[in-house]
Amino acid sequence: MKRKIIIDTDPGQDDAVAILLALASPDEIDVQGIVAVAGNVPLALNVKNALRVLELAGRPDVPVYAGCERPLRRRLVTAEHVHGDTGLDGPDLPEPSIRPQTQHGVDYLIDMIKTHAPGELTICALGPLTNLGMALAKAPEIAKRIGEIVLMGGGYFEGGNITPVAEFNIYVDPDAADIVFRSGVPIVVAPLDLSHMMQATPARLQRIRSLGNRAGQAVFEMLSFSERFDLKKYGTEGAPLHDPCVIAYLLQPNLFEGRRINVTIETGSELTMGMTVADYWGVTGRAHNCFFLRSGDAEGFYDLLTARLAKLP
Ligand code: BDR
Ligand code: CA
Repeated sequence: MKRKIIIDTDPGQDDAVAILLALASPDEIDVQGIVAVAGNVPLALNVKNALRVLELAGRPDVPVYAGCERPLRRRLVTAEHVHGDTGLDGPDLPEPSIRPQTQHGVDYLIDMIKTHAPGELTICALGPLTNLGMALAKAPEIAKRIGEIVLMGGGYFEGGNITPVAEFNIYVDPDAADIVFRSGVPIVVAPLDLSHMMQATPARLQRIRSLGNRAGQAVFEMLSFSERFDLKKYGTEGAPLHDPCVIAYLLQPNLFEGRRINVTIETGSELTMGMTVADYWGVTGRAHNCFFLRSGDAEGFYDLLTARLAKLP
Protein backbone atom coordinates (compact mmCIF):
# COMPACT_ATOMS: atom_id res chain seq x y z
CA MET A 1 0.00 0.00 0.00
CA LYS A 2 1.23 3.47 -0.88
CA ARG A 3 1.72 5.60 2.25
CA LYS A 4 0.83 9.27 2.34
CA ILE A 5 3.39 11.05 4.47
CA ILE A 6 4.27 14.51 5.73
CA ILE A 7 7.93 15.04 6.62
CA ASP A 8 8.57 17.27 9.64
CA THR A 9 12.25 18.14 9.54
CA ASP A 10 15.25 20.42 10.23
CA PRO A 11 17.48 19.65 7.24
CA GLY A 12 20.36 18.81 8.12
CA GLN A 13 22.44 16.49 5.90
CA ASP A 14 20.87 13.29 7.22
CA ASP A 15 17.38 14.82 7.00
CA ALA A 16 18.17 15.71 3.38
CA VAL A 17 19.14 12.12 2.63
CA ALA A 18 15.89 10.94 4.24
CA ILE A 19 13.86 13.35 2.09
CA LEU A 20 15.70 12.17 -1.03
CA LEU A 21 15.06 8.53 -0.11
CA ALA A 22 11.33 9.24 0.24
CA LEU A 23 11.15 11.15 -3.05
CA ALA A 24 13.05 8.36 -4.78
CA SER A 25 10.40 5.83 -3.70
CA PRO A 26 7.16 7.00 -5.38
CA ASP A 27 5.73 3.48 -5.66
CA GLU A 28 5.55 3.14 -1.88
CA ILE A 29 5.57 6.72 -0.56
CA ASP A 30 3.57 9.78 -1.53
CA VAL A 31 5.17 12.89 0.04
CA GLN A 32 2.32 15.33 0.63
CA GLY A 33 4.42 18.13 2.05
CA ILE A 34 7.38 19.13 4.15
CA VAL A 35 7.18 21.14 7.37
CA ALA A 36 10.34 22.72 8.72
CA VAL A 37 11.13 23.19 12.40
CA ALA A 38 13.91 24.94 14.29
CA GLY A 39 16.59 22.44 15.29
CA ASN A 40 19.94 21.79 13.67
CA VAL A 41 19.97 25.46 12.66
CA PRO A 42 17.37 28.25 13.01
CA LEU A 43 14.05 27.87 11.20
CA ALA A 44 14.69 30.16 8.21
CA LEU A 45 17.75 28.15 7.21
CA ASN A 46 15.92 24.85 7.59
CA VAL A 47 13.12 26.12 5.33
CA LYS A 48 15.67 27.17 2.72
CA ASN A 49 17.43 23.81 2.96
CA ALA A 50 14.16 21.92 2.45
CA LEU A 51 13.56 23.94 -0.73
CA ARG A 52 17.11 23.24 -1.89
CA VAL A 53 16.68 19.50 -1.40
CA LEU A 54 13.43 19.49 -3.39
CA GLU A 55 15.14 21.28 -6.28
CA LEU A 56 18.02 18.84 -6.10
CA ALA A 57 15.51 15.98 -6.40
CA GLY A 58 13.70 17.67 -9.28
CA ARG A 59 10.51 17.92 -7.16
CA PRO A 60 9.68 21.65 -6.83
CA ASP A 61 5.99 20.67 -6.71
CA VAL A 62 6.17 19.41 -3.09
CA PRO A 63 4.95 22.23 -0.79
CA VAL A 64 7.16 23.43 2.07
CA TYR A 65 5.78 25.07 5.23
CA ALA A 66 7.58 26.93 8.00
CA GLY A 67 6.63 25.62 11.43
CA CYS A 68 7.76 26.69 14.90
CA GLU A 69 10.84 28.83 15.31
CA ARG A 70 11.53 27.90 18.89
CA PRO A 71 10.80 25.03 21.30
CA LEU A 72 7.57 25.15 23.36
CA ARG A 73 9.22 26.23 26.60
CA ARG A 74 12.97 26.07 26.35
CA ARG A 75 15.59 28.16 24.60
CA LEU A 76 16.57 26.82 21.16
CA VAL A 77 19.75 24.73 21.05
CA THR A 78 21.29 24.30 17.58
CA ALA A 79 24.02 22.07 16.12
CA GLU A 80 26.13 24.10 13.70
CA HIS A 81 29.14 22.22 15.06
CA VAL A 82 27.81 19.13 13.26
CA HIS A 83 25.91 20.49 10.26
CA GLY A 84 27.87 23.68 9.45
CA ASP A 85 26.64 27.28 9.44
CA THR A 86 24.04 26.72 6.69
CA GLY A 87 22.81 23.49 8.30
CA LEU A 88 23.52 21.74 5.01
CA ASP A 89 27.23 22.34 4.44
CA GLY A 90 29.07 20.07 2.02
CA PRO A 91 27.65 20.33 -1.50
CA ASP A 92 27.42 23.67 -3.25
CA LEU A 93 23.65 23.77 -3.75
CA PRO A 94 22.24 26.88 -5.44
CA GLU A 95 19.90 29.35 -3.76
CA PRO A 96 16.40 27.89 -4.19
CA SER A 97 14.10 29.53 -6.69
CA ILE A 98 10.94 27.97 -5.24
CA ARG A 99 9.23 29.62 -2.26
CA PRO A 100 7.64 28.24 0.91
CA GLN A 101 3.86 28.33 1.43
CA THR A 102 2.39 31.10 3.57
CA GLN A 103 0.29 28.91 5.92
CA HIS A 104 1.96 28.12 9.26
CA GLY A 105 3.33 24.58 9.35
CA VAL A 106 1.37 23.67 12.50
CA ASP A 107 -1.93 24.73 10.90
CA TYR A 108 -1.01 22.81 7.76
CA LEU A 109 -0.43 19.68 9.84
CA ILE A 110 -3.76 20.10 11.63
CA ASP A 111 -5.66 20.75 8.38
CA MET A 112 -4.09 17.81 6.56
CA ILE A 113 -4.79 15.41 9.42
CA LYS A 114 -8.41 16.61 9.67
CA THR A 115 -9.08 16.42 5.95
CA HIS A 116 -7.66 12.92 5.51
CA ALA A 117 -9.44 9.78 6.62
CA PRO A 118 -8.49 8.55 10.09
CA GLY A 119 -5.31 6.51 9.80
CA GLU A 120 -4.50 7.71 6.30
CA LEU A 121 -1.58 10.04 7.06
CA THR A 122 1.81 9.08 8.45
CA ILE A 123 3.96 11.80 9.98
CA CYS A 124 7.71 11.28 9.65
CA ALA A 125 9.45 13.42 12.27
CA LEU A 126 13.15 13.98 11.70
CA GLY A 127 13.79 16.93 14.01
CA PRO A 128 12.64 18.30 17.37
CA LEU A 129 8.96 17.48 17.94
CA THR A 130 7.83 21.10 18.42
CA ASN A 131 5.42 21.25 15.45
CA LEU A 132 3.70 18.00 16.37
CA GLY A 133 3.57 18.89 20.06
CA MET A 134 2.03 22.24 19.18
CA ALA A 135 -0.47 20.67 16.76
CA LEU A 136 -1.57 18.11 19.37
CA ALA A 137 -1.91 20.85 22.01
CA LYS A 138 -3.89 23.10 19.70
CA ALA A 139 -6.16 20.42 18.24
CA PRO A 140 -6.07 17.35 20.51
CA GLU A 141 -8.79 15.70 18.41
CA ILE A 142 -6.22 15.01 15.65
CA ALA A 143 -4.53 12.36 17.81
CA LYS A 144 -7.17 9.80 16.87
CA ARG A 145 -6.79 10.54 13.16
CA ILE A 146 -3.00 10.21 12.71
CA GLY A 147 -2.13 6.82 11.24
CA GLU A 148 1.36 6.67 12.72
CA ILE A 149 4.23 8.91 13.78
CA VAL A 150 7.57 7.45 12.76
CA LEU A 151 10.29 9.51 14.41
CA MET A 152 14.04 9.69 14.74
CA GLY A 153 14.80 10.49 18.33
CA GLY A 154 16.01 9.21 21.64
CA GLY A 155 18.32 6.42 22.56
CA TYR A 156 18.63 3.99 25.39
CA PHE A 157 21.43 1.42 25.27
CA GLU A 158 23.60 3.84 23.27
CA GLY A 159 23.10 6.75 25.66
CA GLY A 160 22.80 10.29 24.30
CA ASN A 161 24.61 12.40 21.75
CA ILE A 162 24.00 15.98 22.95
CA THR A 163 24.25 15.11 26.66
CA PRO A 164 25.40 11.80 28.16
CA VAL A 165 21.78 10.61 28.24
CA ALA A 166 19.80 12.73 25.74
CA GLU A 167 19.56 12.58 21.96
CA PHE A 168 19.48 15.94 20.15
CA ASN A 169 15.91 15.96 18.74
CA ILE A 170 14.30 15.07 22.06
CA TYR A 171 16.66 17.30 24.07
CA VAL A 172 15.85 20.40 22.01
CA ASP A 173 12.14 20.16 22.85
CA PRO A 174 11.45 17.63 25.61
CA ASP A 175 8.09 19.26 26.40
CA ALA A 176 6.88 18.68 22.84
CA ALA A 177 8.26 15.13 22.90
CA ASP A 178 6.38 14.50 26.14
CA ILE A 179 3.10 15.58 24.51
CA VAL A 180 3.76 13.30 21.54
CA PHE A 181 4.66 10.24 23.61
CA ARG A 182 1.57 10.71 25.79
CA SER A 183 -0.77 11.35 22.83
CA GLY A 184 -1.92 7.80 22.20
CA VAL A 185 -0.92 8.06 18.52
CA PRO A 186 0.84 4.89 17.27
CA ILE A 187 4.57 5.73 17.36
CA VAL A 188 7.62 4.05 15.88
CA VAL A 189 10.95 5.24 17.32
CA ALA A 190 14.21 5.07 15.38
CA PRO A 191 16.68 5.84 18.21
CA LEU A 192 20.46 6.22 18.33
CA ASP A 193 20.65 2.49 19.18
CA LEU A 194 19.59 1.87 15.57
CA SER A 195 21.19 4.79 13.75
CA HIS A 196 24.60 4.11 15.24
CA MET A 197 24.57 0.72 13.51
CA MET A 198 24.08 2.35 10.12
CA GLN A 199 27.66 3.53 9.67
CA ALA A 200 28.37 5.58 6.56
CA THR A 201 31.74 3.93 5.89
CA PRO A 202 34.03 5.17 3.07
CA ALA A 203 33.06 2.14 0.92
CA ARG A 204 29.33 2.83 1.34
CA LEU A 205 29.77 6.53 0.54
CA GLN A 206 31.86 5.69 -2.54
CA ARG A 207 29.10 3.40 -3.82
CA ILE A 208 26.67 6.32 -3.57
CA ARG A 209 29.08 8.70 -5.27
CA SER A 210 29.74 6.27 -8.11
CA LEU A 211 26.05 6.28 -9.02
CA GLY A 212 27.15 9.23 -11.15
CA ASN A 213 23.94 11.29 -10.75
CA ARG A 214 23.74 14.68 -9.07
CA ALA A 215 21.80 13.31 -6.07
CA GLY A 216 24.48 10.68 -5.44
CA GLN A 217 27.24 13.26 -5.65
CA ALA A 218 25.38 15.65 -3.33
CA VAL A 219 24.70 12.90 -0.76
CA PHE A 220 28.37 11.93 -0.86
CA GLU A 221 29.38 15.54 -0.24
CA MET A 222 26.77 16.10 2.48
CA LEU A 223 27.64 12.99 4.48
CA SER A 224 31.38 13.45 4.00
CA PHE A 225 30.93 16.87 5.62
CA SER A 226 28.67 15.88 8.53
CA GLU A 227 30.72 12.73 9.24
CA ARG A 228 33.85 14.56 10.29
CA PHE A 229 32.47 15.49 13.72
CA ASP A 230 31.20 12.00 14.60
CA LEU A 231 34.25 10.17 13.25
CA LYS A 232 36.44 12.12 15.63
CA LYS A 233 33.98 11.69 18.49
CA TYR A 234 33.36 7.96 18.16
CA GLY A 235 36.54 6.76 16.42
CA THR A 236 34.54 4.44 14.16
CA GLU A 237 35.07 3.67 10.46
CA GLY A 238 31.87 5.47 9.48
CA ALA A 239 29.55 7.93 11.20
CA PRO A 240 26.00 7.07 12.29
CA LEU A 241 23.23 7.82 9.80
CA HIS A 242 20.07 8.84 11.64
CA ASP A 243 17.05 10.23 9.81
CA PRO A 244 17.01 7.96 6.70
CA CYS A 245 16.23 5.07 9.10
CA VAL A 246 12.70 6.49 9.39
CA ILE A 247 12.03 6.31 5.65
CA ALA A 248 13.83 2.97 5.27
CA TYR A 249 11.53 1.56 7.96
CA LEU A 250 8.50 2.56 5.88
CA LEU A 251 10.01 0.95 2.79
CA GLN A 252 11.40 -2.26 4.27
CA PRO A 253 10.32 -2.82 7.88
CA ASN A 254 11.82 -6.30 7.76
CA LEU A 255 15.29 -4.71 7.86
CA PHE A 256 14.63 -3.67 11.46
CA GLU A 257 14.04 -5.30 14.83
CA GLY A 258 12.35 -3.83 17.86
CA ARG A 259 9.68 -4.28 20.47
CA ARG A 260 6.66 -2.53 21.87
CA ILE A 261 7.61 -0.70 25.05
CA ASN A 262 6.88 2.39 27.14
CA VAL A 263 9.03 5.45 26.62
CA THR A 264 8.64 8.40 29.00
CA ILE A 265 10.43 11.70 28.46
CA GLU A 266 12.43 13.46 31.18
CA THR A 267 11.21 17.06 31.41
CA GLY A 268 12.16 17.93 35.00
CA SER A 269 15.81 17.38 35.84
CA GLU A 270 18.44 19.47 34.02
CA LEU A 271 20.94 16.65 34.53
CA THR A 272 18.91 14.15 32.49
CA MET A 273 16.70 16.58 30.49
CA GLY A 274 15.31 15.01 27.31
CA MET A 275 16.26 11.45 28.24
CA THR A 276 14.02 8.82 26.66
CA VAL A 277 13.42 6.58 29.65
CA ALA A 278 12.81 3.36 27.74
CA ASP A 279 11.28 0.52 29.74
CA TYR A 280 12.85 -2.08 27.46
CA TRP A 281 12.60 -4.85 30.06
CA GLY A 282 9.05 -4.05 31.13
CA VAL A 283 9.87 -3.34 34.76
CA THR A 284 7.48 -0.43 35.35
CA GLY A 285 4.15 -1.77 34.20
CA ARG A 286 3.62 1.47 32.26
CA ALA A 287 1.49 1.00 29.16
CA HIS A 288 3.31 0.49 25.86
CA ASN A 289 3.27 3.68 23.79
CA CYS A 290 5.69 2.95 20.96
CA PHE A 291 7.52 0.41 18.84
CA PHE A 292 11.21 0.95 19.66
CA LEU A 293 13.63 -0.10 16.91
CA ARG A 294 16.71 -1.45 18.61
CA SER A 295 18.70 -2.78 15.67
CA GLY A 296 18.79 -3.20 11.92
CA ASP A 297 20.57 -4.72 8.94
CA ALA A 298 23.14 -2.10 7.87
CA GLU A 299 24.08 -3.81 4.56
CA GLY A 300 20.42 -4.11 3.60
CA PHE A 301 19.83 -0.50 4.60
CA TYR A 302 22.67 0.83 2.42
CA ASP A 303 21.65 -1.43 -0.49
CA LEU A 304 18.15 0.07 -0.31
CA LEU A 305 19.41 3.65 0.03
CA THR A 306 21.88 3.31 -2.84
CA ALA A 307 19.40 1.63 -5.18
CA ARG A 308 16.77 4.31 -4.52
CA LEU A 309 19.14 7.28 -4.86
CA ALA A 310 20.05 5.90 -8.29
CA LYS A 311 16.52 6.72 -9.43
CA LEU A 312 16.94 10.47 -8.83
CA PRO A 313 18.34 13.03 -11.28
C1 BDR B 1 19.35 13.88 15.09
O1 BDR B 1 19.84 15.18 15.36
C2 BDR B 1 20.09 15.86 14.18
O2 BDR B 1 21.30 16.54 14.25
C3 BDR B 1 20.04 14.86 13.07
O3 BDR B 1 19.53 15.45 11.89
C4 BDR B 1 19.11 13.79 13.60
O4 BDR B 1 17.76 14.09 13.32
C5 BDR B 1 20.32 12.85 15.62
O5 BDR B 1 20.47 12.99 16.99
CA1 CA C 1 17.14 15.85 11.79
